[in-house]
Amino acid sequence: DKGNHRHFMEKEIHEQPEVISHTLAHYLDFAGGTWRPLDMPFDFAKLDRLTISACGTAYLAGLIGKYWFERLARLPVDIDIASEFRYREIPLAKGAAALFVSQSGETADTLASLRYCRNAGIPIASIVNVGGSTMARESDLVFPTLAGPEIGVASTKAFTCQLAVIASLAARAAAARGTITREEEKTLIRQLCEAPRLVSETLKLQHRIEKVARELAHVRHVLYLGRDTNYPLAMEGALKLKEISYIHAEGYAAGELKHGPIALIDETMPVIVIAPHGRMFEKTVSNMQEVAARGGKIILITDGKGAEQASVKAFETIVLPDAPDLIAPIVYALPLQMLAYFTAVFMGTDVDQPRNLAKSVTVE
Ligand code: F6R
Repeated sequence: DKGNHRHFMEKEIHEQPEVISHTLAHYLDFAGGTWRPLDMPFDFAKLDRLTISACGTAYLAGLIGKYWFERLARLPVDIDIASEFRYREIPLAKGAAALFVSQSGETADTLASLRYCRNAGIPIASIVNVGGSTMARESDLVFPTLAGPEIGVASTKAFTCQLAVIASLAARAAAARGTITREEEKTLIRQLCEAPRLVSETLKLQHRIEKVARELAHVRHVLYLGRDTNYPLAMEGALKLKEISYIHAEGYAAGELKHGPIALIDETMPVIVIAPHGRMFEKTVSNMQEVAARGGKIILITDGKGAEQASVKAFETIVLPDAPDLIAPIVYALPLQMLAYFTAVFMGTDVDQPRNLAKSVTVE
């Protein structure tokens, strides 16, 4: 049932504050500001390496996780798309654990990667949305996302719930490994608790985003740029747009711009830059200047301070609420989803059932 929404995707986008909150509550005691106990098959404190494998949007959630685990918990992470992982004949040492991310829990390549790790004898954990799925059954530990059924083929609420789980795990790993102080741990927990409210505020930007989408509906190609965790988000934004609007889109690390994609920039090329004010902001602004100098149409997604300090004339600026670093990717996923959604609506494509795509890819 779509309720008063035109599409399941729209409904699922709007459910995010609630399902993120519900998911976080499984890992966190909001009132007490503490973690809920988990029956872990491995000890974060003793882990040498975490190996992550997944497909599509779930892979991009894992890639954001790599930044979090490495920066906060000093835990090295290997990550690969499952279709490559399963055949790469990866040596897996003792001291490693494997983490799989999947909405359906049935994706053929991810499941094959899981079985590869199982044969290698390392502990297996999965983040899945479908409780009784094959991956859930074959894992030593399941970290559930409580997003509820996701009907739209393009993943939205499952993605942000995956991010919420991974952010919690990374913060928890940091505490277990002693790479953050007790005070810092408390701050991270508080920040996680703020995610649902910030997501809810971001939903209010709908009209502004619709306006940008009206422009995108007339173009053939779109480039998304970001640094750090905004780089996987750039790829997620591009994936969402191509899936449902059939506009060719690519996500790039902003620093890679001059290594090739800058050749594409001209007056017809919209470039969506994801750049909250923070550690990489100045670097991204210099990439924006390179785009502006070639006449590229910049659509900047940032926060108040970023909008004020971006010394480049953007074609459009979408200003999000201030979000702490840890949860910013959860918040910044929203405008990307909404941009893809409204562009597809304006183009009249089948948003919930885009051509050639299946919700769950159970064959190779
Ligand atoms: C993108 C999308 C796909 C899935 C991918 C993995 O919007 O939905 O890229 O993320 O097929 O599916 P799961 O998470 O079920 O393993």
